[in-house]
Amino acid sequence: MLSETLLESFALVKLQAVVRDASLSNIVVGFLVLAVTALAADYAYMLYLRSRMPPGPFPLPIVGNTFSLPENKPWIYFEELSKKYKTPLITFWIGRNPTVWINDAWCAHEILEKKAQIYSSRPRMVVFGELGSGQSSLVTMRVRNQRERDHWRIHRKLMHIGVGIQSVRGYREIQNNESKIVAYDFLREPKEYVKHLERYATSVVSIIGFGRRVASYNDPIITEVIALMQLAADLNVPGKSFPMLMETFPILAKFPRFMPWFKGVNARGQKGGHYFFHTLAEEALEQYAQKSPSEQAAMPTPYVKTLFEEGNKHNLPVAELSSLTGNLFGAGADTSSSTLVTFILACCAFPEPMKKAQAEIDRVVGPDRSPHWDDSPNLPYVNAFVKEVFRWRSVAIIGGQPHSPTQDDVYNGWLIPAGSWVQGNVWAIHHNEREFPDPDRFYPDRFFKDNDHHRPFPGERGYMTFGWGRRVCSGQALAEQGTWITVARLLWGFNVRKARDPQTGREIDVDIFAFTNGLNMRPQPFQCEISPRSEEIRETILREGKQALDDLKIHDGESRYKMSTFYQQQRRKIAEEPVIDEHGNIKIVKIKG
Ligand code: HEM
Ligand SMILES: *[C@@H]1O[C@H](CO)[C@@H](O)[C@H](O)[C@H]1NC(C)=O
Repeated sequence: MLSETLLESFALVKLQAVVRDASLSNIVVGFLVLAVTALAADYAYMLYLRSRMPPGPFPLPIVGNTFSLPENKPWIYFEELSKKYKTPLITFWIGRNPTVWINDAWCAHEILEKKAQIYSSRPRMVVFGELGSGQSSLVTMRVRNQRERDHWRIHRKLMHIGVGIQSVRGYREIQNNESKIVAYDFLREPKEYVKHLERYATSVVSIIGFGRRVASYNDPIITEVIALMQLAADLNVPGKSFPMLMETFPILAKFPRFMPWFKGVNARGQKGGHYFFHTLAEEALEQYAQKSPSEQAAMPTPYVKTLFEEGNKHNLPVAELSSLTGNLFGAGADTSSSTLVTFILACCAFPEPMKKAQAEIDRVVGPDRSPHWDDSPNLPYVNAFVKEVFRWRSVAIIGGQPHSPTQDDVYNGWLIPAGSWVQGNVWAIHHNEREFPDPDRFYPDRFFKDNDHHRPFPGERGYMTFGWGRRVCSGQALAEQGTWITVARLLWGFNVRKARDPQTGREIDVDIFAFTNGLNMRPQPFQCEISPRSEEIRETILREGKQALDDLKIHDGESRYKMSTFYQQQRRKIAEEPVIDEHGNIKIVKIKG
């Protein structure tokens, strides 16, 4: 009886196990069938889209074309694909995500400028967006509907108050004085030319933003912020290794930050830089308030002050306000200084244009003073020279951030689906023989209509260095103005040439292709010789430099904060939320406890 029951129950257990196994394997099989079907359907849809989109290499399921990316500088690869397929637009699949690369100025103009109405958004960006500022900063902000559009307009407007064309004229003398100090520094310490240029670019945005200049190139605001920007720029280039590979497999971004594929991505998560910039802003407001009324009257109102007052009218969260000040540094410092390093490389590699520009400046300006913007109408060759600096090796080599259409668009019979990445390949655009014959040659003469290298180009500037349409660089006017005065002054003041081997006296060559790999590129370190052009000029540089240091004294000041140690010091503050009161002042309030 007992054993019977036992037997029965044993059989029952067994039966149950069989049933369970069956259902388990059924589930597994069912799941597999479902997965394969989903995969097939997904892939079929990819191929369907592909058949309607611009040409490009054949994508694999799930991974797309990601693994055919080169290790470095994908913009050159996309230029090659464009030539191979004989088409200005290329579709390249980053995972299941189609990206369209525009390799031609006219198409970029037709699409990103003329259809700016629908091309003013940004796509979903995993690595640079979601893992960084969360696409709440102007640079990455999406504009897909009316609500987002209104929000984005406020950001553009607030950025414009700071660095729009009107305000930028008011920053001329700041840039002028700071660039006099660059010339002065080049005299004292020519070998550190890169650091001087970084200091210049950072100091200009720091004066504009905070009212406080950056006097030393060892100031952590330079060394840390530029390093951070270069890291971020490296991360924003399509790639087939981690962490960029998360763009191909977005699901991986949902894992905890200690997983190995996050290497290099800000381990602190979303909070990122904005508390840091917020604290700097607070400090700057304090320092400004301590200045005497006459000092305040002698300087432009720091952008943070205006920004917090204006931002308050729109009820912007502090994180977003801070991101707007952060943009000055994030978007403005590394880009502007890299452009100037490129200028130095161009002078080393192509001495002729430098000499021609110097002859023009000697005629118009002479040795007793340095050039000023008022001279610009009389310096057509210098103007063309600056254009060529922007064209020859543009810093934002893939046009900064991708654009994304908010609705399906058809261009030249090709579909560009809503939400896809559309990236202007500035390398290919500025490197196209049709618009720029002999494109690797630094040749300012090409901008003169009667030159045999002159070709038509959409838009009056003759280059697309600052992007397109409604997302065009907010800091363009500031960057163009500052680049002009610094390039003009350095051409006036210095001979730049290849360094010579101290033993043999032979010139050390420079490589005009040796640039960094990030989406903001700059020349790899190179040696050069920078020397004043004459004794008279040397004296003028010294005189003007000392005067400028004196003039800029009202902007002297230091920060108590460093990004690298900020988060340890500030751990307490992060549990608290900054808010703005009705007077535009920032207050810190506790969130909990
Ligand atoms: C040589 C210097 C610079 C270059 C080459 C440059 C280039 C660019 C490019 C290509 C874009 C993307 C445009 C697009 O999506 O079509 C951009 C965006 C932006 N830049 Fe610049 N930039 C420079 C300096 C600056 C400066 C000095 C500032 C601010 C002070 C600045 C602020 C911004 C901002 C806020 C955006 C985002 C605009 C938006 O998405 O709506 N940039 N820049
Ligand atoms: C900078 O230089 C000019 C003269 O070139 C001067 O008028 C101006 O006040 C200076 N100061 C500042 C803070 O820009």
